[in-house]
Amino acid sequence: MNALELEGQVAIVTGGSRGIGRAIAEALADAGAKVAVIGRNADAAVTAAAELPRGGHAGFPCDVADPAQVNATVKAVEEQLGPVAILVNNAGITRDNILIRMKDEEFDEVIAANLKGAFNFSRSVSRGMMKRRAGSILNITSVVGLMGNAGQANYAASKAGLVGLTKSVAKELASRGVRCNAIAPGFIRTDMTDDLTESQVEGLLHQIPLGTLGEVDQIAGVARFLVGPGAGYITGQILAVDGGMVM
Ligand code: NAI
Repeated sequence: MNALELEGQVAIVTGGSRGIGRAIAEALADAGAKVAVIGRNADAAVTAAAELPRGGHAGFPCDVADPAQVNATVKAVEEQLGPVAILVNNAGITRDNILIRMKDEEFDEVIAANLKGAFNFSRSVSRGMMKRRAGSILNITSVVGLMGNAGQANYAASKAGLVGLTKSVAKELASRGVRCNAIAPGFIRTDMTDDLTESQVEGLLHQIPLGTLGEVDQIAGVARFLVGPGAGYITGQILAVDGGMVM
């Protein structure tokens, strides 16, 4: 692999100030991309961007669920960094509850951030990508979107929705040279999984053939590959990075 295969390309990473998003932002910066780190918190986004390797990155505050903020943010990114070549829709939240207790807001908030957020950003960057006949969109879904999970009807529905979004965008934009794929991570060690109890983790390990939780760098390396030239003939795919949970 060319050490700087994304040299000079502008990449948006939503939810890029921590966790999996931050690791992806670092991997793309390492590959030579200029990264726009998107987060709800301006300070966190700006600080994370400043800490990325190689320099030339920037942080932008934006709630991915708000279409007007997303369009304004894409405009600001293009003015500051240049035309967007790569979009990673990584921002996501959980609001877990059993079905009979789940509140409307818990369902709606998760769909708005996880699914509508990816739609908002994809729609906003795709016009320019189509015009330039180049671009790569990567959605971060979840094994839960493929398998379902008790207590996560909202989250699993949002992640399954991303699978349909990924394949539809891939089919719609392929003739314009734009690719769209997704990674379905299994259980990865981040703030999101820090909430799991020891006995929950123990239970999970029995379902993971490789026998451990994953690390953020194991998602980031796959993301770097999927958005880059080495994956130039891959589109519409959902790649599980999950220690073998889903086969
Ligand atoms: P995290 O909670 O550490 O980070 C999520 C990031 O998204 C945060 O920076 C947060 O501020 C941002 N975000 C959330 N809602 C937002 C909004 N409306 N607008 C802008 N930014 C927003 O989570 P983690 O674990 O790094 O997860 C990243 C992605 O990977 C999520 O989509 C998650 O669903 C997915 N995932 C995580 C797994 C895990 O085991 N940690 C497993 C499978 C999928």
